Amino acid sequence: MIAATQKARFPLAMRVLHWSMALLLIGLLALGLYIQNIPLEAPNKWDLYPLHRAFGMLAFFLVILRLVVRLKSRVPALPDTMPWYERIGAKLAQIALYAAMLSVPLFGYIASSALPEFPGISPLQSIWFFGLELPLFPVEKNYDTTKFFITLHKWVGYGMIAVLVAHIGGALKHRFFDRPEHDVLSTMT
Ligand code: HEM
Ligand code: HEM
Repeated sequence: MIAATQKARFPLAMRVLHWSMALLLIGLLALGLYIQNIPLEAPNKWDLYPLHRAFGMLAFFLVILRLVVRLKSRVPALPDTMPWYERIGAKLAQIALYAAMLSVPLFGYIASSALPEFPGISPLQSIWFFGLELPLFPVEKNYDTTKFFITLHKWVGYGMIAVLVAHIGGALKHRFFDRPEHDVLSTMT
């Protein structure tokens, strides 16, 4: 039985997925920002792209698994004593993070699948997933399509960074500057 003072926690599978994906996604955001800043003429310009794509596809598969686990799990509610606007803010941030976790890799996948043949970047014609060649997303090869979906990939990615700052800031505020019963971080650890 859970003692009155002990808070219910997220199920183990959700905690493992939350923290492993947090690491993966923060790494992908950093790698994405880094690769697009490598100058075009640099000899290793395209070396890190396959790595970003493979780990990005891993994030896509993991978020689908996470949604399934989330829908099947009972999760702790946010404390009733928390102000209504903080509870709504936290919920909206969670929904926005799920939307970004699904759409950012999907936009990257569509953009990469539409990329036409260019001299010098033929390794980018296939999408590799740790030794396995993935089928391309069914979309016509067209550079304008690539540009359109990369723009979405980029701006939703930047939006995700902004929501993450609020999500992490909120968790730390409840942990260190709030009443102990508002410490939701202990439900995720
Ligand atoms: C959750 C997963 C992912 C995250 C968080 C992410 C994040 C990012 C970010 C922040 C950038 C830099 C955007 C910019 O400033 O221009 C980027 C670039 C890029 N991403 Fe992703 N990405 C993910 C998944 C993927 C996937 C699955 C693919 C393809 C299969 C992909 C393909 C690319 C490509 C080709 C670029 C380079 C665009 C350029 O050179 O302008 N990404 N990504
Ligand atoms: C890329 C990084 C992250 C993403 C995408 C993310 C996403 C999410 C999502 C979607 C939830 C709702 C529960 C679920 O369905 O799993 C959640 C819960 C939570 N996250 Fe994160 N998170 C990230 C990083 C962090 C970090 C670094 C912290 C702590 C400093 C944190 C603290 C929490 C806490 C305390 C909860 C449970 C309370 C609540 O429901 O808001 N998260 N996170």
